[in-house]
Amino acid sequence: MNKKRFTLIDNDNKKEYQLDGMEGSIGPDVINISSLYKDTGLFTYDPGFTSTAACNSKITYIDGEKGVLLYRGYPIEQLANNSSFLEVSYLLMHGELPSQSDKVEFENTIKNHTLLNEQITHFFRGFRRDAHPMAMMIGVVGALSAFYHDSLNIEDANHRMISTHRILAKMPTIAAMAFKYHLGEPFMYPLNKYDYTDNFLHMSFATPTKEYEINPLFSKIMDQIFILHADHEQNASTSTVRTAGSSLANPYACISAGISSLWGKSHGGANEAVIDMIQEIKNNDLNPKKFIEEVKNKKNKIRLMGFGHRVYKNYDPRAKVLKKSTEELFKELKIKSKELEIAKEIEELALNDEYFKEKNLYPNVDFYSGILLKALGIPTSMFTPIFAVGRTIGWLSQWKEMIEDQEFKISRPRQLYSGEIDKNYKKVMEREKKSMFNLLWLKKTFLNNQ
Ligand code: CMC
Repeated sequence: MNKKRFTLIDNDNKKEYQLDGMEGSIGPDVINISSLYKDTGLFTYDPGFTSTAACNSKITYIDGEKGVLLYRGYPIEQLANNSSFLEVSYLLMHGELPSQSDKVEFENTIKNHTLLNEQITHFFRGFRRDAHPMAMMIGVVGALSAFYHDSLNIEDANHRMISTHRILAKMPTIAAMAFKYHLGEPFMYPLNKYDYTDNFLHMSFATPTKEYEINPLFSKIMDQIFILHADHEQNASTSTVRTAGSSLANPYACISAGISSLWGKSHGGANEAVIDMIQEIKNNDLNPKKFIEEVKNKKNKIRLMGFGHRVYKNYDPRAKVLKKSTEELFKELKIKSKELEIAKEIEELALNDEYFKEKNLYPNVDFYSGILLKALGIPTSMFTPIFAVGRTIGWLSQWKEMIEDQEFKISRPRQLYSGEIDKNYKKVMEREKKSMFNLLWLKKTFLNNQ
């Protein structure tokens, strides 16, 4: 690695500071500011971390300008079109694709952990039937740490491995149970004759009275969706998992935190929001052109869901794969979809519009994933849980990498304080205006309650 040096010039105090630079295997170099405060008394300021590399990672690389995504060096398109989700999971976790025997062993290990402790089913029964499946997943995944005490010592590599296998294996079971509970149908247990993705389809769609016939095309597309969502470098939910894990919290608690962060509509919740948006256009017979104009009018505070990305300033490569799969599925099933037509029209309008061009806003992974999932018969409330199932291996791999990193420290950002200072405490009677009002309010409340 070439050594780099940077000079920071403090013009006010006529001082210069030397900072070390670091070079990755690809992507922007970084300035190492870890001793900046100690050396200069200064902090850096970067809300939203737009220019901050929070860690050194070997897992996923994104070139946002070119629209490139690599998992452990492999282009996402190659993996999405040729690999399987569990093979990609092994790759993300261990750094290389498995040999044939490692693959079989890994798949069998995951199969052995798909069942949940029966007591966990009672957790679901405590939720309202109309609870969002994400709300149930946050609770149930966090609760797993109350069941698997035998492997909670995160300083033990073997415990870490058992926990990661358990979480990866149980996530489809939990997501499918949340779905079944939401529908008011009985839970379906995992069946070891199925692979990871088919098991998820079986648990979601079979009933005790009717087997679910797995359609190979559906199964391939669902597996591809899991692969495409498996990791995405230091996004909000992954950073949440790393931050939670940096305090040495157990992995179940960390993954539950990741699911919470994923739920927001700026992140994983966007796939649900895309369908809501398209359906609103369809149901109200809105003109897509007019809708785009509404989005462009900042006063309306409407965003074109499924468009734009913090890192991609080009077409999201995951969206390209999904667009192709969507077209293949609709052709195969010979279905005409008004939603797909609207989506394509919106995409074309936005890609040719100055507002979107100037801001480099392109379709992201969520733009087509919702339409695809809807065509597979999945209700919108399950879109983000499916994202969570796919992203779990990324969270786990990043968590493991962090714990095993020699430079690992608890995450503790600092701040620029702009609040008040030098205030002196006053007793309540000495506080003005507000306190008089409070007193009257207290008196009135007290009298009313007599
Ligand atoms: N529709 C209209 N305008 C947009 C959009 C959009 N979808 N996205 C960004 N902009 C505008 C924004 O108003 C701002 O304009 P200006 O510079 O005039 O103030 C500019 O583009 C930059 O936006 P930003 O919010 O500063 O960018 P960001 O990097 O902080 O946000 C984002 C990224 C993904 C939150 C945002 O693009 C967005 O809200 N998109 C819609 C939600 C969405 O699809 N999210 C899924 C992300 S991909 C899957 C995942 O990672 O989970």
